[in-house]
Amino acid sequence: MKTLMVQTKERTYPIHIGSGLLRQLPDLIEEAGWSSEQSLMLVTDDQVAPLYQEPVYRSLTDHGYHVECVTIPAGEASKTLLYWEELLTKCIRAGLDRTSGILALGGGVVGDLAGFLAATYMRGIPFIQLPTTLLAHDSSVGGKVGVNHPLGKNMIGAFHQPSMVIFDVDTLHSLPAREVASGYAEVIKEALIYDPDFVSWLEANSSALMKLESSFVTEAILRGCSVKADVVSKDEKETGLRAILNYGHTIGHALEATAGYGTYTHGEAVAIGMVGAAMLGEELGLCPPLAGRTQKLLEAFNLPTRIRGKLSNEDLMERMRRDKKVKQGVYTFVLPRNVGHVELIHGVEEKRILKVLKCLRGEGR
Ligand SMILES: NC(=O)c1ccc[n+]([C@@H]2O[C@H](COP(=O)([O-])OP(=O)(O)OC[C@H]3O[C@@H](n4cnc5c(N)ncnc54)[C@H](O)[C@@H]3O)[C@@H](O)[C@H]2O)c1
Ligand SMILES: [Zn+2]
Repeated sequence: MKTLMVQTKERTYPIHIGSGLLRQLPDLIEEAGWSSEQSLMLVTDDQVAPLYQEPVYRSLTDHGYHVECVTIPAGEASKTLLYWEELLTKCIRAGLDRTSGILALGGGVVGDLAGFLAATYMRGIPFIQLPTTLLAHDSSVGGKVGVNHPLGKNMIGAFHQPSMVIFDVDTLHSLPAREVASGYAEVIKEALIYDPDFVSWLEANSSALMKLESSFVTEAILRGCSVKADVVSKDEKETGLRAILNYGHTIGHALEATAGYGTYTHGEAVAIGMVGAAMLGEELGLCPPLAGRTQKLLEAFNLPTRIRGKLSNEDLMERMRRDKKVKQGVYTFVLPRNVGHVELIHGVEEKRILKVLKCLRGEGR
């Protein structure tokens, strides 16, 4: 097991990462100060429940905990105020009080919803995350919890830090291959924005990482979380550094939305967006050639690096104009200066972006 301590204004908490951790759950949560006098609510979704709910429930009840289990339908559509209210009702009916705790067993959807439940029930009770997707390493740092509104994703939420994160990497073996690759896109992003050694390490170990060999995945998650924790902690004074975590996301979000949510996974769209950002950096003369290396790395993780299908430039540009970072036709992008180093660049002209979109379709390069 490896542990990263995350320091925030609210508290310092550990992220434990390793193989077989769910079996050690009672001992680990005791370390966070939890005890069997507390009532617990275990929140999960209906795809994760048949795989991992029973062993988690049993290990806790064997240690004397009273555990209430609730299951939401799997998928983004459950991250709503409707399910939040339903879970609040379950908490009240189960008699949870300020000393109770919430356990979030699942991916980012369960983590965000159960975290928001914990942030709001009785003005905030403790919660522990038990991530079961690779992407959920991203939500284990930063304290953002919340739900979607019909008019926009993640529009309702709070900052609420977990008491502990217990990431059992064995759970990743049941994850569909596409979800594994998508999770790695954010890990690759963390390396590309901050840590050239981490980039080389990912290049050297892609095949062990794709096979989900425990010691390698553990290391990748640890290093990815460290980058995010470092960036977030340096941005507590709102220096804007946190924006670098959006590397690849300007084009990525436009692709995701224009193609229709579900066509590309978030990670796939971000992968294409990172190749686009590298091309744009080269086009503007900001960095040495990086697009080829970025592309090769992403391909080693089975991630797409080109735009497929018929998406019009006008639709993509329209989406990018709606991005918070676009003001009066002036585009702001997170762009590379070198491997492991990016910057927020203001005033990118539209014609440069159009040229990159052409390259991303495999034309003109
Ligand atoms: N709070 C943050 O800082 C933050 C950061 C990044 C993403 N997010 C949020 O995370 C969500 C996406 O997370 P996600 O990709 O984990 O989605 P998810 O929670 O929907 O999980 C993806 C799918 O995999 C299934 N699944 C989960 N674990 C499994 C396992 N071990 N084996 C088999 N199937 C499994 C789930 O049931 C689901 O169908 C989005 O809502 C996003 O907004 C939040
Ligand atoms: Zn992302």
